[in-house]
Amino acid sequence: MTEAAIDAAGDVLVLKRDLEQHRFHAVWLRDNAWDAETRSATNGQRLIALRDIDPDVSLTAAAVDGDKVNVTFAPENKTIAYSIDWLFAHAYDRPQTARKGWLSDSLEPWDAALNENVPSADFGLVALNAGAKRAWLEDIARYGFGKLTGGPVEDQALMKVVSLFGYVRETNYGRHFEVRTEVNPTNLAYTGLGLQAHTDNPYRDPVPTIQVLYCLESSAAGGENMVVDGFRAALRLKEENPDWFDVLSRYCARFEYAGDKGVALKSRRPMIELAPDGELIAVRFNNRSAAAITDVPFEDMGLYYQAYRRFGEIIDDPAMEVTFRLEPGECFVVDNTRVLHARKAYSGTGTRWLQGCYADKDGLLSTLAALQANVREAAE
Ligand code: FE2
Repeated sequence: MTEAAIDAAGDVLVLKRDLEQHRFHAVWLRDNAWDAETRSATNGQRLIALRDIDPDVSLTAAAVDGDKVNVTFAPENKTIAYSIDWLFAHAYDRPQTARKGWLSDSLEPWDAALNENVPSADFGLVALNAGAKRAWLEDIARYGFGKLTGGPVEDQALMKVVSLFGYVRETNYGRHFEVRTEVNPTNLAYTGLGLQAHTDNPYRDPVPTIQVLYCLESSAAGGENMVVDGFRAALRLKEENPDWFDVLSRYCARFEYAGDKGVALKSRRPMIELAPDGELIAVRFNNRSAAAITDVPFEDMGLYYQAYRRFGEIIDDPAMEVTFRLEPGECFVVDNTRVLHARKAYSGTGTRWLQGCYADKDGLLSTLAALQANVREAAE
């Protein structure tokens, strides 16, 4: 049983159902109306702008009718029916958390314990079965990475992986790049050295949000792939010293890359990025492309470097890393805004050949949400 009431000024609708009560502003309700004049019946897009709503919009009546509440607005004298379930699902009248570094419930921070249960799926199954694809994408959304095994061993096979969920993001490195030993490397990724865990291309703004690394040959010893949860590392930094977390999120670092002719990429962004309400939304960490930091005031630079050093130590801690070896036909997809990746050193005998490319996380999450919506519709 739902009760609806309007405050004396007509500014606020109060909806009460069992023990739950929520308030909604008149302007918010009018802006979020779902009638055919406000929202397109075909694609759901809003047909009006805020300027079409009277600044003095108010409520003159509200009446519950089954699972709907009919609300009348002045000065339009227009009555709009709202789904009560929709209103409760979109209620904003709740205590706000001012906690810095909070994470969405849909994410799960992890450390080396995840070695027991590395998110992984079979290429053939994911390509053919919507449920398998949904489960694999859910893992990537939850953990920030996922392996795919049993794929074809052929040039450009990684494009088939990207087409499972989205589109390639082309850069100055091309639609894809080769990761193998070269005699005159222009970029350290192409040598046999181990690399510190990093996020790719922090010198871009926006950064590539998804990376795919696909193995085609792997006869050299070593060269295992390793991933670290940047969110877990940032939260551990905060547990150890909130000032360290704060200083890395409050000030911008700078990143640059000018290793190829005609390329001069630069960005100015924090190593730990928070949304305005404190949500942890991105990590950038890359010793190779970090430029001189000039946005930290003199008084805080000592603290900044302490925090930067400790953040790196946490990232290097074996207790944080998940390690796996990619065999030919295997790849991993990583959320480059969250999870750092690295490669262990490998020996000079034999070969190791990977192909990499970038793609976009919004496309991946969109594909996932559409698959989840299909499941909900089928259940209804
Ligand atoms: Fe990389």
